[in-house]
Amino acid sequence: MTEIFAHRGSSGTHPENSLPAIKAAINSKADGIELDIHLIKTGELIVMHDEKVDRTTNGSGYLKDFTLAKLKKLEIGNRFFRKVRVPTLEEVFKLIGDAEIILNIELKTDVFEYAGIEQKVIDLANKYPHINVMYSSFNPATLVRLRKIDSTSRLALITHENLDAVLDLHKKIQLDAVHPPIKAKDNPVLKEIPARYWTVNKEEDIAYFYAIHAKGMMTDFPEVAVSIRKKEHIQ
Ligand code: G3P
Ligand code: CA
Repeated sequence: MTEIFAHRGSSGTHPENSLPAIKAAINSKADGIELDIHLIKTGELIVMHDEKVDRTTNGSGYLKDFTLAKLKKLEIGNRFFRKVRVPTLEEVFKLIGDAEIILNIELKTDVFEYAGIEQKVIDLANKYPHINVMYSSFNPATLVRLRKIDSTSRLALITHENLDAVLDLHKKIQLDAVHPPIKAKDNPVLKEIPARYWTVNKEEDIAYFYAIHAKGMMTDFPEVAVSIRKKEHIQ
């Protein structure tokens, strides 16, 4: 069955990477949640897409320069979602609780390496062993470090259109999958390794990735993907 991952939570209908978006993703009956993490000055793992808080909050500056106390003063809501704060990754683990959903944590280490982030995220996940976690990154060095720390974790390389590095990395550290953009869909490398595509929002694209039996897709509208799957009786 093609897995549906809620991209940045249910980000088409809720503030991206927020607790309401995560909650909506759980309620949508998606198979997984994808979110992005960074490390801040006081050592907490923070859920946000960009390196800077400017686009998604009412503040400004690099996340890495924030203390948790300062970050928690910012708002990421909008007029429909008021008083929503930037979540820590631990708050997401707590929110997931007993829900049966895969948590795909993307380590955003492509601009800043955030020394020690790999060990921190694995230590945190180990506190919640009942939660089904997997890791992804655009940065192969992060995946190599994760593999050294944990020989069994599920790892995925996120790519742009060029997939040249994928199979060598797969040979070296045993990837679970590659996460390519939709536009890479005809690349022959994708015959050699399972793929979860991003970001699949149009109904015809969702239907296409079911039809080719892709391993998975990341979508901002998981409830739409779930309803197409139900309607078409796709297994
Ligand atoms: O997991 C794939 C996708 O999330 C990568 O793109 O920019 O949304 O993090 P981005
Ligand atoms: Ca991401």
